[in-house]
Amino acid sequence: MIEAVSAKQTERAEEIIKTVKFKVFRYDGKGKKKLRVDSFEVPVKKGTTVLDGLHHIKENLDSTLAWRYSCRMAVCGSCGMFINSFPRLACNTQITELESDVVHLKPLPNFDIIKDLVPDLSVLFEKHRQVKPYTLRQDLAEIENPTGEFFQSVDELERYLQFAYCIKCGLCMAACPTIATDRRYLGPQPLAQAYRYNADSRDEGYDDRKDIVFSPHGAFRCHFAGACSEACPKGVDPAFGIQLLKRQAFVGALGLLRRRKAAPVATPVSSAKRLEGVPEAPKKTVS
Ligand code: SF4
Ligand code: FES
Repeated sequence: MIEAVSAKQTERAEEIIKTVKFKVFRYDGKGKKKLRVDSFEVPVKKGTTVLDGLHHIKENLDSTLAWRYSCRMAVCGSCGMFINSFPRLACNTQITELESDVVHLKPLPNFDIIKDLVPDLSVLFEKHRQVKPYTLRQDLAEIENPTGEFFQSVDELERYLQFAYCIKCGLCMAACPTIATDRRYLGPQPLAQAYRYNADSRDEGYDDRKDIVFSPHGAFRCHFAGACSEACPKGVDPAFGIQLLKRQAFVGALGLLRRRKAAPVATPVSSAKRLEGVPEAPKKTVS
């Protein structure tokens, strides 16, 4: 009986609900004269994503179409594109949720285009690098020869955790109206990551980041349009991160920024016992 029900459910999931038209921006990477829009008919089943539709085109209709993807589960951040005039992840967008029989696909705005739907994200990674998105410490001896883990309480973790969910997809940068007019503006992704590290109790890098974060193309160029947070598929809310950075700048300018003592190395609990039923970690395979 159970087998019969699940077979029926599978059959229903395989049913083609409708056919939609994909209108896809094409660019061969060789100059503006080569721009065009191609149309493709794509069959849609329950749960078919825009990424599935692109695979259908590549496998059956036009093998030269280019886009970027990897994980197919909204984790790697590579399949960002402009879908019906909004920056979205192709793997995280079901065609039925678009409520349209036409799917317009373009590469992400605010980036150069490499080919078809592939944006050049190197500018995003370069700006991200500029804010030093890693834990900076004064005690270099401990960083170079670590003796343990830095202590962090649950409360301290929650002060930045939301910002650590960023997958570097660049949708926020594509949505940002300030980047559209100022390509040198750092943008929501790098700035939110600057806040993520400034707010980390293990970090002491505020002074190392402040020159770039509060430069003329830094946090104060943000007009708080909020488009970045609307587009973010991971709930990071980069616009909020930027406002928190601005607050740090004001408090810092008043000389009131609380300099916390960076988290110490946690003392291993020698008396701790493994709970019954919790398996041991697997043996190391590399020495
Ligand atoms: S903040 Fe959100 S939209 Fe921006 S890069 Fe990170 S995950 Fe993507
Ligand atoms: S393929 Fe990895 S986020 Fe879409």
